[in-house]
Amino acid sequence: MDVHNVEMVMSAVSAAQYPTDGKPEIALVGRSNVGKSSLTNTLIQRKNFARTSSQPGKTQTLNFYNVEDQLYFVDVPGYGYAKVSKKQREAFGHMIEEYITSRKQLRGVISLVDARHDPSADDIAMYEWLHYYNIPILVVATKSDKISKSKFNKFEANIKRTLGFDAAESSFQFFSSETKYGKDQVWAWIEAHMAM
Ligand code: GTP
Ligand code: MG
Repeated sequence: MDVHNVEMVMSAVSAAQYPTDGKPEIALVGRSNVGKSSLTNTLIQRKNFARTSSQPGKTQTLNFYNVEDQLYFVDVPGYGYAKVSKKQREAFGHMIEEYITSRKQLRGVISLVDARHDPSADDIAMYEWLHYYNIPILVVATKSDKISKSKFNKFEANIKRTLGFDAAESSFQFFSSETKYGKDQVWAWIEAHMAM
């Protein structure tokens, strides 16, 4: 999709604040600092529209981005951020769970992992949980500019094995917000799922 118009419409902490116009939604999940906001910016062709930060845990609400009046990207707070209080983490967890399990407009989830590392326990739990709820998942291995292409196969196999990846139900894509690698493939997945 060639994006010209994007607008952040809502920073929501509970279901009452979600948009009500029924457009399809694609959510982005992943550890703090994995690159969710950067992926959003790459997809919508903006430099710093979704705030990126070297300070993990910056995004603390569900942020709905209206893209071309056709869909919403929903930037979900990064999980596994140790410095917020336990109470805050529980509140985030509840907010994410409520959204993922009850949102009719949700067409799929892009689950970001760091291409360079084994998926964390939180990454595995998130994948298993989304899979359990039958939500279409695109695993995006981001920051792939940091590894050489000759190692892609090896890293992909490792990530899939660690996650318990179900190839019949989920998709996988390397990505880089630095080089834009994988951008067209991620868009193709989004567009295929918007219509579902
Ligand atoms: P939270 O909002 O805290 O959950 O973080 P986030 O997942 O939105 O991460 P964000 O997009 O803010 O990126 C975190 C850091 O990683 C920033 O310093 C980005 O510049 C960097 N980064 C993100 N994507 C890439 C990538 O593809 N390649 C490289 N080299 N760096 C990246
Ligand atoms: Mg962010």
